[in-house]
Amino acid sequence: MNINNTSPTSIREIEPGCSLNGTVKVPGDKSISHRSLLFGAISEGETTIEGLLPAEDPISTAKCLRSMGVKISPIKKGEIIRVQGVGLDGLKEPDKILDCGNSGTTMRLLLGLLVGRQKRHFILTGDSSLRKRPMKRIISPLTMMGATLHGRSNGEFAPLSVVGTQLHGAVIGTPVASAQIKSAILLAGLTAEGKTTVIEPANSRDHTERMLKAFGANIKVSGEMGRHITVESGSNLIGTTIIVPGDISSAAFWLIAGALIPESDIKIENVGLNPTRTGILEVAQQMGIKYKIENKKEIAGEPVGDINVVHSRHLKPFNLDNEIMPRLIDEVPILIVAACFCEGTTRITGASELRVKETDRLKVMTTQLTKMGANIEENPDGVIIKGIEKLNGAGVDSETDHRVAMSLAIASLLAKGKSTITRSDAADVSYPEFWNDLTRLKS
Ligand code: S3P
Repeated sequence: MNINNTSPTSIREIEPGCSLNGTVKVPGDKSISHRSLLFGAISEGETTIEGLLPAEDPISTAKCLRSMGVKISPIKKGEIIRVQGVGLDGLKEPDKILDCGNSGTTMRLLLGLLVGRQKRHFILTGDSSLRKRPMKRIISPLTMMGATLHGRSNGEFAPLSVVGTQLHGAVIGTPVASAQIKSAILLAGLTAEGKTTVIEPANSRDHTERMLKAFGANIKVSGEMGRHITVESGSNLIGTTIIVPGDISSAAFWLIAGALIPESDIKIENVGLNPTRTGILEVAQQMGIKYKIENKKEIAGEPVGDINVVHSRHLKPFNLDNEIMPRLIDEVPILIVAACFCEGTTRITGASELRVKETDRLKVMTTQLTKMGANIEENPDGVIIKGIEKLNGAGVDSETDHRVAMSLAIASLLAKGKSTITRSDAADVSYPEFWNDLTRLKS
C-alpha cells in the first residue's frame, strides 16, 4: 500500500494491497472537545482539558470564544488546554464577526449560548458548507424562549445575527433527534427565567447533559427513556477538569478497515463508548465483525475502552432505520463503504439528516462510490447497497467533507488498482493525523 500526498491541492494517491496492523490512538472526541471549551468559557474559574481534539473544528470554537474575551491556551497536540472562564454573563460583545468555519456544532451551540447575553450583538458566519446548513431548527425554538435572531432566507441560513435578551423558560419538543438542537436550547435555558425542558423524539448524544451536570448546572433527565431534559437557571457553572476520550466516530474508520482488509489486526485505544454513540458497535456485531472491547473503564463520567478488531470474512448485510440513526449518524458514510463488501443487500432508511451534514452525504457517497463500481441506489431518506466482490480504483473527491475523505480512503484500500482522492485534507476538520496513522498501520 502506498499513500502519496502528490500536490498542494491535497490529492492523495492510495494503492491497495497491504494489511493494517498495530495500535492506534484516535484523537479526542469532537463533541466533547467543543463542549469542554464552551462550558469552560461560561464557568467561574479555570477548566483544564486533557486530550482535546487539536483539529480545525474545535479550533473554530476556541477562536470564537477568544473573540469574546475568553482566555484559552494554544491548542496543540498532547498539551493540556486551560480555559479561564468568564462566568455565565461574562462573554464580551465581539468587535468582529464570529467565524465558525466548517463547524455546525460551533455555530449551533454558540447560538444557544449567545441569545441570553443581554444587550450584546453578535454576528456568526462560516464557510460555504456551513452557510448552506439549516439553522431554523435552532432559531425557531430559541425564538419561543424570547430570543432575537435573524438570518438569510427568513432565518434559515448564516450569516446570522443575535441581539442578546432576557429569555424565558419553555417546554420545547424537537422535531428531530439532534444533540445540537437540544444543546442550544439547554444552553439558552441556563440564563432563562424559570425552567426549560427539551423533549426529544429519540435520544441524541447526551454529552451536554453529562457535562453540564459536572460543571454544576441544575439539570435533570426524566420521562420515557430519559427524553425529557430540564435545566433550571440560577446556579453558576464552576470550572472543572475534563479528560476527553478518543472519538468513536474516528475509531469507526479503523474498525471497518480492520474487519475488511485481509490479515489486518488493529487495536484502537481509549475509545469513548457512551451508549448514545455506540450504534456502530451494534451494527458491527450484526455484520459478524470480529472485535473485542478490552480495558473498559469510566473516565471523567464517560465509559471508555480499547477496541481490538481482526479481519472478518463473510460479512452479513445490515439494515439501519431511524431508531438507530442518532447513535451512529456520523458513521453512516463508512458503513456505506462496509456495506459494499457484505454478502447481500444492505438497506439504510431514516437517514435524511445525512443530507444536511457538512455535505449531502447520501448523494456524495453514492456519487463517489459509483465511480469505484459500487452497486448503490440513492433514495430520499437513505441508500440501498448490493455487496460486490471488489471496488475498482478511481479518481474520487471528498467534496470537502472530512468523513467522506476518510471513508473513501478506506474504500480505496479495498479497491483493485490505484485511487486518487481529491481534497483529502478535509480530514483535518476532525482527524488531522488520519493520513499519518494510516501510513503507520500499513505493514
Ligand atoms: C454533534 C451532533 C450531531 C453530529 C455532529 C456533532 C454534536 O449532529 O452529527 O457531528 O456534537 O452535538 P446532530 O445533533 O445535528 O444530529
